[in-house]
Amino acid sequence: MNAKEAAARAAVGLVKDGMALGLGTGTTAAYAVEALGERIKNEALKIRGISTSESTTRQAIAMGITLTDFSADPELDMTIDGADEVDGSGCLIKGGGGALLREKIVASASHEMVVICDSSKMKQTLGAHALPVAVIPFGIETTLHQLSKICGNLALRRSGSGMPVITDDGLYLIDMQFTSIPSPSEMESRIRQVVGVVEVGLFVGIASRAVVGYDDGHTEIIVYK
Ligand code: A5P
Repeated sequence: MNAKEAAARAAVGLVKDGMALGLGTGTTAAYAVEALGERIKNEALKIRGISTSESTTRQAIAMGITLTDFSADPELDMTIDGADEVDGSGCLIKGGGGALLREKIVASASHEMVVICDSSKMKQTLGAHALPVAVIPFGIETTLHQLSKICGNLALRRSGSGMPVITDDGLYLIDMQFTSIPSPSEMESRIRQVVGVVEVGLFVGIASRAVVGYDDGHTEIIVYK
């Protein structure tokens, strides 16, 4: 079992019968969805989930997970999701997979967010990984220009064909490459002030625990709140 899968399976072990869950997106979260499907099958575990992306929705349905929505479950018990980076206080960079807006909505609606990752994602300070920002396509040139005043090293995310990547919500993604982000909260507010920005891939004060997986298969739980 690799480190991502070890973290995902340990986090799924925290899930209790009857919970409403946020289902994350990405390769680590996919291991968690798989492990949830196994628990439903083997233990008759009853849970329901809200997915953070169309790809997770497809996987959840295939694994027999009942999907719910915010009209039935305005608050969720727990979200299990991956991250691109996690700092010492549990601030995250997310959105490498492009789902940061739905991920933030779902995590914010949850009583606790359990981050799952391999140990390479744990950093003292955020910023080595590019910071994804979801923006409205209209006015993309001016939004890029305004954001370049905050960080000169940035790019509109494009697919292999050269076309801009479009998220599940019809947004574009801008990746801002800092060297480090010493104050994630201040940076989040600064970027948010740019008109055209819908959401920033900085998650500050949202994660309650991290389950970190290591190559030898062992895991560690870090509690933030
Ligand atoms: C998806 O938009 C992201 O926030 C992912 O959770 C993050 O990029 C981590 O992805 P992996 O689990 O694939 O490393």
